[in-house]
Amino acid sequence: MATHHNNELTMEHIGEHVVLKGFVQKRRDLGNLVFVDLRDQEGITQLAFDADNDLKSIGQALKNEYVVEAEGVVRERSSKNPNMKTGDIEIDVTKVRVLNTAKQPPMLIQDNTDALEDTRLKYRYLDLRRPKLQKMMTLRHEIMQAVRSYLNQASFLEIETPILTASTPEGARDYVVPSRIHKGKHYALPQSPQLFKQLLMVGGFERYYQIAKCFRDEDLRSDRQPEFTQIDIEMSFVDQEAVIDLSEQMIKHVMKTVMKVPLNEPFKRITYAEAMRDYGSDKPDTRFELKLKDLSDVFKTTSFQVFQNILNDGGSIQGISVPNGNTEFSRKDIDKLTDEAKKHGAKGLSFVKLEADKVTGPIAKFLSEPEVEHIKTVCGANNGDLVLIVADKLAVVQAALGHLRKVVAKKLDLIDENVFDFTWVLDWPMFEYDEETKRYYALHHPFTRVQDKHKSILIDEPEKALAYCYDLVVQGYELGGGSMRIHEAMMQDSVFNVLGLSKEEQQTRFGFFTEALQYGTPPHGGIAFGLDRLVMLLGHTDNIRDVIAFPKTSSAQCLMTHAPSVVSAEQLAVFKENEEK
Ligand code: AMO
Ligand code: AMP
Repeated sequence: MATHHNNELTMEHIGEHVVLKGFVQKRRDLGNLVFVDLRDQEGITQLAFDADNDLKSIGQALKNEYVVEAEGVVRERSSKNPNMKTGDIEIDVTKVRVLNTAKQPPMLIQDNTDALEDTRLKYRYLDLRRPKLQKMMTLRHEIMQAVRSYLNQASFLEIETPILTASTPEGARDYVVPSRIHKGKHYALPQSPQLFKQLLMVGGFERYYQIAKCFRDEDLRSDRQPEFTQIDIEMSFVDQEAVIDLSEQMIKHVMKTVMKVPLNEPFKRITYAEAMRDYGSDKPDTRFELKLKDLSDVFKTTSFQVFQNILNDGGSIQGISVPNGNTEFSRKDIDKLTDEAKKHGAKGLSFVKLEADKVTGPIAKFLSEPEVEHIKTVCGANNGDLVLIVADKLAVVQAALGHLRKVVAKKLDLIDENVFDFTWVLDWPMFEYDEETKRYYALHHPFTRVQDKHKSILIDEPEKALAYCYDLVVQGYELGGGSMRIHEAMMQDSVFNVLGLSKEEQQTRFGFFTEALQYGTPPHGGIAFGLDRLVMLLGHTDNIRDVIAFPKTSSAQCLMTHAPSVVSAEQLAVFKENEEK
């Protein structure tokens, strides 16, 4: 056994006899003296093979990533390295054993490696040796333990639910698995444990949690994987406030135990409508202002034809005022902002530079004195400020300006990365109407409860009905989302009807579930947090692959195992009806 990890030894240990194990990080051969950096999970210690030492020739033969056990005495270094925890000492090696040799690795095993991400993913087991990933996996473990310890003491039971199951709708495509025994039939991998956790409430469990794998076949982004992990929670005999309170306490416990930052304030709360109005996003970054302001009234009688047409077509004109933007943003910067706005659907970006004696910008010539004053009032803008303006359909305006405010904040350095600004987004609409398919979709999922005050309009004015639904947002990420659930079969039927599910479809897909609701279902609700996203945020990375041991690429491949891969004809044959033996 090793007596110490490679981050432990300091001046206090001088003279001690120690045994260390690890991988060779690097070797420096000075001829009469050989130094080897030995790395393990915790850190690096320098081994010294002296000239008068017979072992020197073994030291000289050690190559990068060899696995080594070294015995020796701790001594003070002659040239210390203040950047290393163990930089004051080295080991005067008396015995060394090569536990295994290693091929020349295809990448540098250190934080600032020059390897491409594809190489890192192909040789993930080498990538994982880098301190950064070792720290991320440790952080992930600590977060999971903190979550479990909090929920355990709050009387939650950890219960597993199936992976081979029937489809649960969370809005993505399912991964499907063909059945060998029931030819032509398929299991679906769960997009979340949603129906099972509700059925556990029907089953008489009052507080459930699970660190659950979820599978969604959807377009991937830097914060999305096809296979990810949720901290999944469900509670019965509670109201929305109880779920929110429990969640908040759990997150605070994690922040205190893992990050050592206590969060004493209650989390902010805003409604969905406010989030969209002020930030143009349902997951607003609330660490800075730069709010969207509605300028439609200002341009009511504008002589700028483009804007007039947009307003006549029922569109919206909104702006954000950038303090001191006149000097901070050059013409070139604004061109870049225009490109960013266009990426989010805008046809253009207008701007007004407010100066003491004039206004400039592409639409300045169309602006009357009172219009300029009106812009200043609505935006709370002063001379020296830059007002960025987008005109389009409301959704496009919000998407474009919602994105621009983040770009501007980054450029102006308005974001303190060390502040965690958790915000609840409440009162989501139950449905959204899709013009293309001409039907309603559940904004959260179809098991979400309509607010009592809106039960009566559920059928006739579904678009106006708000739900008991809540998201926890932080730094512009959706960290978690949940809702109170429908516990009456009748309301569940009504929601399926609004969604346009035929009676037959309701029966075949969800018959088992609506039947369960008829056997005495307690009021219940819950939430799920994206564990991967929580680790990303606390680990200060914006790449979800950094926090998953064996992640997939953005095209859903595993470069190490080559999944998805071709399977043999024999393997496939067992699923085919007419090829039965
Ligand atoms: P929802 O679909 O909002 O809710 O998911 C909950 C949380 O899971 C995380 N998440 C993801 N993380 C990584 N990759 C993905 N592809 C991905 N998709 C979602 C997000 C999100 O907030 N059953 C409901 C919860 C409930 O109602 O209790 C659900 O799954 O952080
Ligand atoms: P144009 O008349 O198309 O050259 O546009 C004049 C200015 O208005 C340019 O700076 C455009 O970028 C801007 N503009 C055009 N359409 C929009 C729009 N939908 N929203 C905001 N600005 C726009």
